[in-house]
Amino acid sequence: RIAYVNGRFLPHSHAEVHVEDRGYQFADGVYEVVLVQNGVMVDEMPHLDRLDRSLDELRIAHPMSRGALRSVMRELVRLNRIRNGLVYMQVTRGVAKRDHPFPKNAKPSIVLTAKRISMPSQETVENGVKVITIRDIRWERCDIKSVSLLPNILGKQEARENGAFEAWQVDADGNVTEGTSSNAWIVTQDGELVTRPATNDILNGITRLSILKLAERQGLKYVERAFSVDEAKKAREAFASSATAFVTPVTQIDDVVIGNGKAGTLSRGLRDSYMEYAA
Ligand code: PDD
Repeated sequence: RIAYVNGRFLPHSHAEVHVEDRGYQFADGVYEVVLVQNGVMVDEMPHLDRLDRSLDELRIAHPMSRGALRSVMRELVRLNRIRNGLVYMQVTRGVAKRDHPFPKNAKPSIVLTAKRISMPSQETVENGVKVITIRDIRWERCDIKSVSLLPNILGKQEARENGAFEAWQVDADGNVTEGTSSNAWIVTQDGELVTRPATNDILNGITRLSILKLAERQGLKYVERAFSVDEAKKAREAFASSATAFVTPVTQIDDVVIGNGKAGTLSRGLRDSYMEYAA
């Protein structure tokens, strides 16, 4: 495998950053994960727009022009011979002697890696997955795709220890914000598609935006509003979305089976349309 580090393509085993990189010391950085399908970057521009936004919100300088970054992404996909996989990119504020305020002259560090991924099993697509619910203990800027992910990894680990695919985080009002690395959706008993509005409480998923566009095009009834754990447990269908999970049907929330325990019709339809859109 080949990685890209600050201007150079290197063997994965030699791809290293400095011990005083602020990403390492302070999680002072942002990232993106872009899906590659049939050798093509899915929703590349929206991902790069979101990267720019995350950088701007944290006042981290842009490490290179968009054109240059797109070339690096393409070269990395080519060098790693990836048809179906992911590109991971991370930008941090750079290397500086450890001190909390922004360093004066640091240059942002940029790292890209790429890997192949396999499609989820037919069993997952048909029977869906379990999610657990946990308290959302994150900060008030979840709209920034920061590499500071401790609450997310603690939540995902708890999910794994409970045999679940994902943990849905719940705010102080009892409403679901999102998963630890995916957005959360339900279909109500009235057949309405619901997902939380994109405020500072969630990451505005690029997959989420594409699904909303597909729903709009198909004339599906949808609304962006908060929904509670109780409402989710009474939902007809539920699913999770992300660049890596696509549309993953959810058929169990904590101990409650959703619908008839099989992936819902609308979820499957949206999964198919998204896969077609991405192909
Ligand atoms: N995670 N919410 C959170 C907290 C996320 O970390 C992600 C993505 C999403 C979905 O966003 P998108 O549809 O743009 O992938 C929502 C990536 C995949 C990750 O951390 O690996």
